[in-house]
Amino acid sequence: MAKRIDVKDLNLYYGKFHAVDQVSLAVPPHSVTAFIGPSGCGKSTVLRSLNRMHEVIPGARAEGKVLLDGEDIYASTIDPVSVRRTIGMVFQRPNPFPTMSIRDNVVAGLKLAGERDKRKLDEVAERALRGANLWAEVKDRLNRPGGGLSGGQQQRLCIARAIAVRPDVLLMDEPCSALDPISTLAIEDLIGELKKDYTIVIVTHNMQQAARVSDQTAFFNLAGVGQPGRLVEIDETERIFSNPGQKATEDYISGRFG
Ligand SMILES: Nc1ncnc2c1ncn2[C@@H]1O[C@H](COP(=O)(O)OP(=O)(O)O)[C@@H](O)[C@H]1O
Ligand SMILES: [Mg+2]
Repeated sequence: MAKRIDVKDLNLYYGKFHAVDQVSLAVPPHSVTAFIGPSGCGKSTVLRSLNRMHEVIPGARAEGKVLLDGEDIYASTIDPVSVRRTIGMVFQRPNPFPTMSIRDNVVAGLKLAGERDKRKLDEVAERALRGANLWAEVKDRLNRPGGGLSGGQQQRLCIARAIAVRPDVLLMDEPCSALDPISTLAIEDLIGELKKDYTIVIVTHNMQQAARVSDQTAFFNLAGVGQPGRLVEIDETERIFSNPGQKATEDYISGRFG
């Protein structure tokens, strides 16, 4: 299997607290991987470790390897800022800059990197907004504030902002949890389209969503209170939801706990 991301023996800590124990998993290019499991089992922590957002938290540290196209993103020669450009993140609550225009929200990263050419910025804004399925809804109001959009539109604006810098990988942490069902479906459709160009890892507490959007599913669990989270199994989504290898997975997906 070709591997865009290859996680090897990853252990994650918050100070002395061992939050995630010994995770190994691989993510093929142009696929969607879903992380599922009960609250507190470390899904967000693992996700944030994939683009070095974990270490931004004071006291937090990672041990083990995360390879992106064969290269360890935790190597001492690697600049975490460039990692976060290549591996973008979309958060649980849409977080556009509310008073900034829709257009400037999309190109904020490029402007920060020093791009000033207005035509280039306009081109990128249009491409990213089309890519996020938002162009038709906002093309006549690009100079209006991002905060004036609906929640679902704001989340697509954040996806446009993430893809404007042309990442290889998109990480999404429960991107639909603050959205209504219609907006949720719009984001799910979008994820299906985005995987042509990107590799996607999504945390979701919604198992139907995992079943609908992902190619492979990773089930994380906790052995008990105060114990670290661990990866129980990762397999093709169809198999996880029809015939999982572990009893704990079966119990979880059939609603017996969590
Ligand atoms: N910033 C933090 N500081 C300290 N502990 C944290 C922090 N974020 C998460 N944790 C702890 O790490 C464990 C895993 O949390 P998290 O990754 O958020 O789980 P999930 O996303 O699966 O609900 C939990 O015990 C949680 O309390
Ligand atoms: Mg979480």
